[in-house]
Amino acid sequence: MAGFFILFWVFLLIIMENSEKFKRILVTSALTYANGETHLGHIAGSILPADMYVRYCRLSGYDVIYICGSDEYGTAIEMSAIKEGISPKEIIDKYHFLNKQSYEGLGMSFDIYSRTSTDIHKKNSQDFFKVLYDKGLLYQKSEKQLYSEKEKRFLADRFVIGTCPVCGYEEARGDECENCGSALSPLELKNPRSTITGDTPVVKESTHYYFPLSKYQDSLDKWIISKSDWKPNVVNYCKGWFKTGLQDRAITRDLNWGVPLPVNNSEGKVIYVWFEAPIGYISNTIELFQNSKNPDKWKEYWQSNDTKLVHFLGKDNIIFHAIFFPAMLMAHENYVLAENVPANEFMNLEGSKQSKSKGHAIYVKDVLEKFNPDTIRYTIATNMPENKDTDFYWSDLQAKNNNELGAILGNFVNRTFVFAQKYFEGTVPEANEYLEIDKNIINSIKSYSSSIASYYENYKFKDAVSETMNLVRDANKYFNDTEPWKAIKDDKARCAVIINTCLQLCRSFAVLFNPVLPFSSEKLLRMLNISEEAITWKSAAELKLKAGSKLNNPEILFRKIEDTEIDK
Ligand code: MF3
Ligand code: ZN
Repeated sequence: MAGFFILFWVFLLIIMENSEKFKRILVTSALTYANGETHLGHIAGSILPADMYVRYCRLSGYDVIYICGSDEYGTAIEMSAIKEGISPKEIIDKYHFLNKQSYEGLGMSFDIYSRTSTDIHKKNSQDFFKVLYDKGLLYQKSEKQLYSEKEKRFLADRFVIGTCPVCGYEEARGDECENCGSALSPLELKNPRSTITGDTPVVKESTHYYFPLSKYQDSLDKWIISKSDWKPNVVNYCKGWFKTGLQDRAITRDLNWGVPLPVNNSEGKVIYVWFEAPIGYISNTIELFQNSKNPDKWKEYWQSNDTKLVHFLGKDNIIFHAIFFPAMLMAHENYVLAENVPANEFMNLEGSKQSKSKGHAIYVKDVLEKFNPDTIRYTIATNMPENKDTDFYWSDLQAKNNNELGAILGNFVNRTFVFAQKYFEGTVPEANEYLEIDKNIINSIKSYSSSIASYYENYKFKDAVSETMNLVRDANKYFNDTEPWKAIKDDKARCAVIINTCLQLCRSFAVLFNPVLPFSSEKLLRMLNISEEAITWKSAAELKLKAGSKLNNPEILFRKIEDTEIDK
């Protein structure tokens, strides 16, 4: 007996420790470059998994915020401006609002989607730089740089392309190789040429500030080793870089487009975009609370150890979020470090990488014009590149919509509502006596909602969604096995129990599918005549619908997608 009590307390303590370790959750998704339209690669890489995670967390009652926005400096932006023949400012204004709208159309529930061209961000990133500068951590070094005589400018980062010294890819950019993921500097490229004019640059000296990344290698290594639950792909990437040895990095550039250096004698120089952009997460959080009752609230999220910081991103961004940014935060000393960096691989398009610079991509705006946003979310979530690259196929979107969302979920909801309308005056019928078969399905909601929850907690989005669909499969089986169409003839009270149970299941689906199908979840709640505010994850397993309450008219959740639409 005593042993039992001790065990009981040990379990209780473990549960309490876990739920009390973190008081709040801070979720970021990689800031999107505002130099082109957002495509399904962005959605699959970071925006959707983050949104699903955040929606799950909100339903579970966690204090959570979701920070994202546009990344508006750097050579990627300037380059697009030159190509489109307009100014960088015109470029970012065009794409910031377009992308924000596309994300909203897909139901992304950011607490803020701001931009790095704000005054708040300018000041915040300059202050950050200044803190490291005043600590004497940054050093200046004159270095050789590629310079275009024709364009009269230094060719920083993406202004130069050439052959990757690591993998031999001939179109590697000056900042990184898209092919093998290596972070590069322009001088490392073989056969360098100007991206704009194609001419061969000369080498010229320029002075820059350096961040002593090499000094942080040991701390970073220890920190990452302590994270037992990080994805192997992320840990392996990092280990690879530790093995090669981290190099100090220049954090300034000879450019006009960017955040000016906050120190004297630095005309024509700006802060390197990969130093300043991640600080944008902090700036956007400051902006989120600036007009609230407690404008300092951003500090609770960023500067307390009981915050769980989670960065969502694609694999090309791992080095910046698992190494560079954490080292900056360590150097600053006031900030919490990431608890996890659940990076995804890429989602390719019918066989090759989606890239807006190459025009090979499916733009969110275009798919939204034709398809239900939940269908898009579901298709991506069930094929999310969590551990390896995956491919997006239009035929897959059609199949998932018609054969799963329509034929399994839509069908169950529709059958249930037809019965409720036809035989029970559009109200929730009474359930007075449960049989074994009813109790089984009701109990299984409980076990499903806890297994789905644990998938979300562990960033296993694909599993979370397929597990949720499995519950609907069980529900369809329940409908078939209980044969309400027979019961309505022989025993109306029995039929009432079945339809009551099916309606309760519909309510559970509205909760459990909310992370991936927010629009359908909302529709379902409207059909059930309950408000969205009332739903919590815990309540998914409770029989909350009251007998006698009125239902609204059913709506079609997923219309069939025809072959002709997909052929186009
Ligand atoms: N804009 C970058 C990209 O799309 C990501 C920036 S993430 C941030 O690759 F941390 F720097 F904000
Ligand atoms: Zn390469």
